Amino acid sequence: MKTMTMAMWAILLLATLLGSGVDARRLPHVVPSVGGYQFHSVVKEYPNQQGFEAKLVVPASPSRNDTLGRDIASLTFIAKIENSTRLRVYISDAAQPRWEVPQSMIPRPALSAESLDSTPDQSPVLGLTYTTEPFGFAVTRIATGEVLFNSTPPSDGTEGFDPLVFKDQYIEVSTQLPSGASLYGLGESTRSDGLKLKPGRTYTLWTTDIAALIPDIDLYGDWPFYIDVREGGSAHGVLLLNSNGMEVSYKENSLTYRVIGGVLDFYFFPGPSPLEVMDQYTQLVGRPAAQPYWALGFHQCRWGYRNVTVVKSVVENFRKAGIPLDTMWNDIDYSDKFLDFTHDEERFPLKEWRGFVDELHANGQHYVILVDPGIGIAYDDYQTYKRGLEQDIYLKDDDGTPYMGQVWPGPVVYPDFLNPNATPWWTNEVQLFHDQLPFDGMWIDMNEVSNFCTGKHCIWNGTIVPDGITTCYLQCEESNTNLDEPPFKLNHFGTNEKLGHLTAAMTVKHWDGTTEYDAHNLYGMSEAIATKKALTEVRQKRPFLLSRSTFVGAGAHTAHWTGDNKATYEDLAYSIVTVMNSGMAGIPMVGADICGFYDMGTDELCSRWIQTGAFHPFSRAHSVRDNDNKELYLFPNTTVSAQKALGMKYQLLPYYYTLNYDAHTKGYPMIRPLFFAFPNDPKTLDVSYQFLIGNHILVSPVITANATTVDAYFPKGTWYNMFDHSQVVSKGETLTLQAPWDVVNVHVHEGAIIPMQEGALTSTEARKTPFTLVVALPSNSLLSSASGDVFLDNGEEIDMVVKAYQSSYVSFKAALNDKNGTLTSHVEHGEYALKEGWIVDKVVVLGVDSAPSVVYVNGKPSLAKVMHKEHKLELSGLGLPIGEEFELSWK
Ligand code: NOJ
Repeated sequence: MKTMTMAMWAILLLATLLGSGVDARRLPHVVPSVGGYQFHSVVKEYPNQQGFEAKLVVPASPSRNDTLGRDIASLTFIAKIENSTRLRVYISDAAQPRWEVPQSMIPRPALSAESLDSTPDQSPVLGLTYTTEPFGFAVTRIATGEVLFNSTPPSDGTEGFDPLVFKDQYIEVSTQLPSGASLYGLGESTRSDGLKLKPGRTYTLWTTDIAALIPDIDLYGDWPFYIDVREGGSAHGVLLLNSNGMEVSYKENSLTYRVIGGVLDFYFFPGPSPLEVMDQYTQLVGRPAAQPYWALGFHQCRWGYRNVTVVKSVVENFRKAGIPLDTMWNDIDYSDKFLDFTHDEERFPLKEWRGFVDELHANGQHYVILVDPGIGIAYDDYQTYKRGLEQDIYLKDDDGTPYMGQVWPGPVVYPDFLNPNATPWWTNEVQLFHDQLPFDGMWIDMNEVSNFCTGKHCIWNGTIVPDGITTCYLQCEESNTNLDEPPFKLNHFGTNEKLGHLTAAMTVKHWDGTTEYDAHNLYGMSEAIATKKALTEVRQKRPFLLSRSTFVGAGAHTAHWTGDNKATYEDLAYSIVTVMNSGMAGIPMVGADICGFYDMGTDELCSRWIQTGAFHPFSRAHSVRDNDNKELYLFPNTTVSAQKALGMKYQLLPYYYTLNYDAHTKGYPMIRPLFFAFPNDPKTLDVSYQFLIGNHILVSPVITANATTVDAYFPKGTWYNMFDHSQVVSKGETLTLQAPWDVVNVHVHEGAIIPMQEGALTSTEARKTPFTLVVALPSNSLLSSASGDVFLDNGEEIDMVVKAYQSSYVSFKAALNDKNGTLTSHVEHGEYALKEGWIVDKVVVLGVDSAPSVVYVNGKPSLAKVMHKEHKLELSGLGLPIGEEFELSWK
């Protein structure tokens, strides 16, 4: 079999390589209106047909369009099969190196043939063909011949589809698409048209501090990755690993990238399932960071918690209201004059503040504080700034002095987190502050990087800025170089602003001479990498951090929230889409400001919002300081909805935590679009406002006012309501469900075994309770099965791995054959679970039509309490240690 595979592979690749010229000659030549390269020659062939390097040249033509700059005369083209499920296509200037995403941020194999496996034992899934003039390349799925990406302009001369253009500040490449394609990704932006990308739209990728409530423009993150689902349900992923600003325009039959710098470094991931795409993609950009157990619980924040007494009372009010709260947060309010790593002794007296944090810890709760990247320079005695100056780690203006901008503390300088000396400095600052106040996590905000001024050579006149001013009061010079205003203007801020608008000037330099023009989109992720290292070193526990700005791969370091939204139903709907988009970008620990950041909203809206937000992996309420208080417990209906929805989330924590493990090891999003679990059901491709927790639990929230029902799409099969275990049988259809104000519809699909514990007011308490396994079997089926698993460790071990004495991994399988049912467990490393004394006390089997006459545990008749009603069999009082394998059967 292996020989055959190898032979097949060789032939296919040979055909791919040698046949490319032949294919090319069969394709009609297209006269480019802009650009176009000619395939010149193969420079090098990699061993085992694993790729080749070629030279592309600009054909002599008097009529080339130079308005966007001169074409680069000669390009290197490399096609490389990096492993069986990853094809890389790289195009850059043949004469000199160009800017690329630093290896330190996203490590990747060298381009040379040496990095290849000399004895690959698996045949590649993807192949490549190319046309010679104009040059274009196509990526195909070898097994079916399906073309997944094709940069050669179609013969009908589709308008705007030009062959490759490669200039210093303008690179253009397009791909043909089948009509009616289903594409997802290319964030970050708030989407008014739902999850699926929409023909006619252009997506701007440029990290920007703009309120998330404004849809369809550039936002905090840069995720140049998309998933393409083709007819029949097979998916592939396309990553353009490039940190420069870009626009991606989607037309009915094509997608065009317009990039203002760097190189073309494409990675193609063949799937074919969406989850496999995520596995393949995160293998390259970084597996998502493992999250501490407590981070999956509920978080409370607001901007405007003015003093420690207020914060204490909020924690107390949650307890009184019976609403779970794991983590309390403080925004910039705790700091002295908004300076990082300081505190206001009057409002947050250290002794009292520390006492409060100690108390949180004693109650099994946690505490997170905000820091901004802008380091204030207005105060002579501010040591953090001085130490940074000594270490010379700030971004530099084009005259070599630290670049000055303005944020909350007034004039600031910005750490250059790409500078290797910045991380030790940052770690030291975290350490010094943590020595005073043992916080558990850090929120890194404003890292696009945000600036209240625009320009360079800013001068501060020495006055202290009044609190809350967001207008620039520095005097800055305009920066008008070709970096600030490249020949191709991105639609920045939705209004074609200059690139440096309200961020660092594009001429600003990083430590090694890299310009902000190239590295701008990496700022947030570079800060996240430094912060993760700092927190891990200081706390010696699994770190939790939350970053506003992200790049692909940032999920390996940080959690993310969707930013400054508004208390409207539209924003509630947007949040569902952005959360799924973040997961598909490889940043699965994500949520939105529950109940809305701006504006007060209503009890009804907040109630609906917690019904959705509770089920997002990162579940935090937050609001702006101009608002009145709007904690969940202040609204009567919201209180009830929060008790119910968070009550369910807390019972599901073992399931979420296992999804956290899957995310960390395989890149699977914790919250998934429906098509992830049902790729063969085309109706799922258009579902934007329902989501899956893992593959099995469907949340169908209400996102409109005055609703008492919700129309929800249910893929085929039996679904059980997680609250009352009632049954929905779907043929693959939209059903209308009851959804009065206190009800959120959450259903589990047949085939799943869901590990649950009891609810509690903190995850620490919930973890101590016995387990229940919910087994969902199809209705009216004589032969059926289900499976599920659970990962268990102490929730904050730095490494999240299956390892003897440190963690346990238990898989469950259930089978029903007529009236005979079994449930068995398989345990990997049970020691840890046994030490914790966890037991499975209850098993709820859904889809069992008659009561059993006997129940056996490990072959012996059991004294378990048996209850049967309609389709539900409940066995309780089982007392089975989860760390030991068991067999439960009934007939
Ligand atoms: C902007 C953030 O997006 C918001 O969440 C925060 O409250 C403010 N900065 C103040 O720190």
